[in-house]
Amino acid sequence: MTDTATTAPTPAPDIRKGLAGVVVDTTAISKVNPETNSLLYRGYPVQELAAATRFEEVAYLLWHGELPDAAELAAFRAAERAGRALEPNVKAAIDLLPTTCHPMDVVRTAVSVIGASDPAADDASPEANLAKAERLFAALPAVVAYDQRRRRGLGVVPPRDDLDYSANFLYMAFGEVPDPVVVDAFDVSMILYAEHSFNASTFTARVITSTLSDLYSAVVGAIGALKGPLHGGANEAVMHVFDEIGSADRVVPWLDEALASKRKIMGFGHRVYKNGDSRVPTMKAALDTLIAYYDRPDVAELSDALEREFVARKGIHPNLDYPSGPAYHLIGFDTEMFTPLFVASRVTGWTAHVIEQAASNALIRPLSAYDGVDERHV
Ligand code: ACO
Repeated sequence: MTDTATTAPTPAPDIRKGLAGVVVDTTAISKVNPETNSLLYRGYPVQELAAATRFEEVAYLLWHGELPDAAELAAFRAAERAGRALEPNVKAAIDLLPTTCHPMDVVRTAVSVIGASDPAADDASPEANLAKAERLFAALPAVVAYDQRRRRGLGVVPPRDDLDYSANFLYMAFGEVPDPVVVDAFDVSMILYAEHSFNASTFTARVITSTLSDLYSAVVGAIGALKGPLHGGANEAVMHVFDEIGSADRVVPWLDEALASKRKIMGFGHRVYKNGDSRVPTMKAALDTLIAYYDRPDVAELSDALEREFVARKGIHPNLDYPSGPAYHLIGFDTEMFTPLFVASRVTGWTAHVIEQAASNALIRPLSAYDGVDERHV
């Protein structure tokens, strides 16, 4: 008797390149809704948080799930102030790095040094991880501020305890207390950058956490993922585009050439939002206040002209990096420092996700479909 049974062909695997559209887990930290163009942090619309709270309160919210009351905020602010100064070993490590390296390499190295000097680095309890998150939150502004200053041939500006997070950050970077208009716009950018569900860098942090590695390693990996221009590096790239174009009257010929050579225009497009980034109107309003404050209508003209022309041609809308790049430029940051500013903010979201992942862990280990040469023998 012959065996007429045939083996059923193996179904083609359902490959989702870039994990596009794949839901890999639940999260209670933020909700991105592209249909309603909304972003909620722990249930609160990010626009309301930007209008009514400071970045310290948002950091607390992301970690604890609730906004702090007055006593909790005072205690949290006191702890943040106590951790602001640039630690000598971190400064020494930064000083070893050439100023030719990208500032993202510096901030990544600084987090490694901070982690290596923490005796509780491998304690993954929620309390220990929260303490590490707060430590990085407090320490990173000094790292970013000092790195910009040393690249300009300037020394450390010690923190000031009478200033809140954003005012002190700008003070450490520029050596003077900025106008409240500038502080407010910067604080809004910090709030908007803080959290955005399973974006590439946050997912990286969760993958690293899922192996039971430590929080510092997760943040170092996340910084590496954020550096790329398809993700956080876009705020820096937007400024390069503005520099390249020069002025509003050059937008059309520049765009003709850029699109003909199939260039991606940085600051436009988003994997999740297809009809506009929920954070853009709030950041655009903050940019407008800076444009008025610094009396730079040329920035508005160029930004508006490029947006108008690109949206008309491609139907692709700006993302948060589009208004935040020129905002950081107007405040006075060097272009290469823009993505480290994003790190100082997003470290809150990353660490909230590390704590969430650790609390309900499953090793993140997807499958792949092999398409190399058939089995062969040596
Ligand atoms: N410029 C030109 N074309 C674009 C852009 C852009 N910025 N964004 C998307 N497109 C086009 C693509 O070329 C592609 O066209 P095609 O179908 O004809 O090949 C189509 O739109 C789909 O784009 P993908 O890159 O496949 O879509 P994806 O969802 O992967 O892209 C991404 C999302 C990576 C953000 C993309 O829009 C991009 O590269 N933007 C520029 C970089 C950027 O601004 N990143 C910041 C992200 S937001 C943040 O990190 C805060």
